[in-house]
Amino acid sequence: MFRFLIIMFSAVSVISFSSSAVAEQAAAEQTITLKKPPEILAKWYKPANKRQVWLHTMFRLRREILAMKDYSAKGQQTELEKWSQNFIKDYKSIAEMVPEWEKFLYLDKLNELDNAVKSQQYSSIPTILKKISKSCMRCHDDYQTVATLMFRSPDFNNKIISEGFSGEKISYDEIMKQMSDSVNRINIAIKDNYFETASDVIGPLEQQLDHLATSCGDCHQDDGVPVQRIMNASRELLPELAEQLELKDQKKSGGKLGEYAVKVCAKCHSIHRLSSDLKFIID
Ligand code: HEC
Ligand code: HEC
Ligand code: HEC
Repeated sequence: MFRFLIIMFSAVSVISFSSSAVAEQAAAEQTITLKKPPEILAKWYKPANKRQVWLHTMFRLRREILAMKDYSAKGQQTELEKWSQNFIKDYKSIAEMVPEWEKFLYLDKLNELDNAVKSQQYSSIPTILKKISKSCMRCHDDYQTVATLMFRSPDFNNKIISEGFSGEKISYDEIMKQMSDSVNRINIAIKDNYFETASDVIGPLEQQLDHLATSCGDCHQDDGVPVQRIMNASRELLPELAEQLELKDQKKSGGKLGEYAVKVCAKCHSIHRLSSDLKFIID
């Protein structure tokens, strides 16, 4: 059976004096439903599997369809037969890997395809492929995004940052709260012209980010470039912010802090926080 996940969005909150306003509010409430794939799918992904078998089967299917289209247009029989045999094998493997998903497949169309290939009916092949491709979409509409999130996006929920500056263990949630407080304390102090108070928070903010950065290498072993970019932005911007605070320039200080929030916090959030939050919702 499917397990459904329902997210409720309360679109508006209105202070109402009439019952019709209440009805309107109820109508404005919208629901998004996401379906979880069968548990067995996990078997075809890391860490249960050595490779991302499912995903690579998918890439092959797309390539095989293109090859069949192109070779049937050119009438190249040998290549067409080779790619169609591979396609048939890979398409069938969907149901071998996840038996619950056999219902999405148009297995009867495979014979049609095979016959058309073998009897060199090149012009009918694109039509058959188009039909088969509908089965791809039927499954993708429901499951593709959720599966990507579940099996291929990094997990930050429950992630603990163990080493670090102070040596203390801390969760991602907790360090984020600390950094958010630091950024806001600087912001408030700038707005109220307490430039020294703002300066005093720069050190702690820098330490918090350094502490966070000790965790990036857990996953970014081979490609440290994105991490470097974020850390370099911080190393450049914090001294510049300190300089503007020294000059008691409210406008430029505010501008530097904003730039910091975009180049350090938002750059990471656009990839890691978004997928982490979505993952948290579906887990
Ligand atoms: C029964 C379900 C199902 C069917 C049928 C199916 N797929 Fe998929 N497909 C998935 C899931 C789930 C994913 C997400 C995999 C991931 O992101 O790791 C996916 C992802 C993909 C991707 C990767 C997209 C990307 O760029 O990340 C391609 C390409 C793809 N499928 C091609 C196909 C083709 C072509 C067919 C039909 C011939 C097909 N699939 C049929 C479930 C299905
Ligand atoms: C749990 C594993 C994990 C951790 C921890 C992690 N990352 Fe990532 N990061 C990834 C993966 C995997 C990608 C590739 C994109 C994807 O699949 O989401 C990525 C991509 C990125 C990107 C986008 C790619 C680009 O070229 O711009 C940025 C920026 C980034 N990470 C920054 C960081 C920073 C900074 C840290 C530490 C504070 C960090 N990441 C910690 C796994 C991780
Ligand atoms: C790894 C790159 C990364 C960097 C750099 C980063 N964050 Fe985050 N942030 C995350 C992730 C992942 C989450 C979701 C983690 C969670 O809630 O467990 C998150 C969540 C948050 C949250 C929500 C916390 C909650 O409890 O809902 C706040 C607030 C936040 N970050 C502030 C900041 C600020 C301010 C900065 C910059 C000074 C920053 N973050 C830099 C990755 C990053």
